[in-house]
Amino acid sequence: MRERQLLTAPSILSADFADIAGGIQRIESAGGDWIHMDVMDGHFVPNLTFGPKMVADVRKRTSLPLDVHLMIERPEDYLAAYVDAGSDFITIHLEATVHVQRHLQRIQNLGAKPGVSIVPSTPAAALSEILVDVDLVLVMTVNPGYGGQSLVPACVDKVATLVEMRRERGLDFMISVDGGVNEGTAVSLRRAGVDVMVSGSSFFASEDPRDYLQRLKGARIA
Ligand code: DX5
Ligand code: ZN
Repeated sequence: MRERQLLTAPSILSADFADIAGGIQRIESAGGDWIHMDVMDGHFVPNLTFGPKMVADVRKRTSLPLDVHLMIERPEDYLAAYVDAGSDFITIHLEATVHVQRHLQRIQNLGAKPGVSIVPSTPAAALSEILVDVDLVLVMTVNPGYGGQSLVPACVDKVATLVEMRRERGLDFMISVDGGVNEGTAVSLRRAGVDVMVSGSSFFASEDPRDYLQRLKGARIA
């Protein structure tokens, strides 16, 4: 049985970057639970997006939790900047730096909620030693870098594995999925036990975003 309410985190990556305020408005009026913000550095992933100023400017416009996903090398050099900008969750990649446990503790000490993410080629078991240090595990369901890619099916099982690891260890972290989420793929993700579904391109392409988010959650729409 699901332990907690299923949440949605629309990703601002698929918004019109010349109209971020409009993107925030779309997320709020659709009933999105969090705003997912993808920070890319052109090194860890082959694309560039934005830095802490964007997070700070979005923070001024919304009270929704900001779910900041750092797809950058040496995330430890920027943690204070993203906390100061008003991030609620700060997620770093297991593959991006060596002393991940230290950096997760620092995020917490700075006053934000620490998250860790893994790319499709990293097994869930690689997180075993640091699950105790996180509030969020973000399972990448595409190779990160771009919106609009297709979900890698093998990643879905990682969600179920993490649900089991959480139960065995008596822990309480949330599990989110990111990449290729849509009404179709959401079915198996919900079944696997996901807590938070990030959605970028499908959310911003939907004609009725409120209805779309309800469908992601598996609600029956009349
Ligand atoms: C991909 C990003 C995702 C992206 C998902 O590297 O981390 O957050 O916004 O976009 P969709 O939902 O289009 O796959
Ligand atoms: Zn993301």
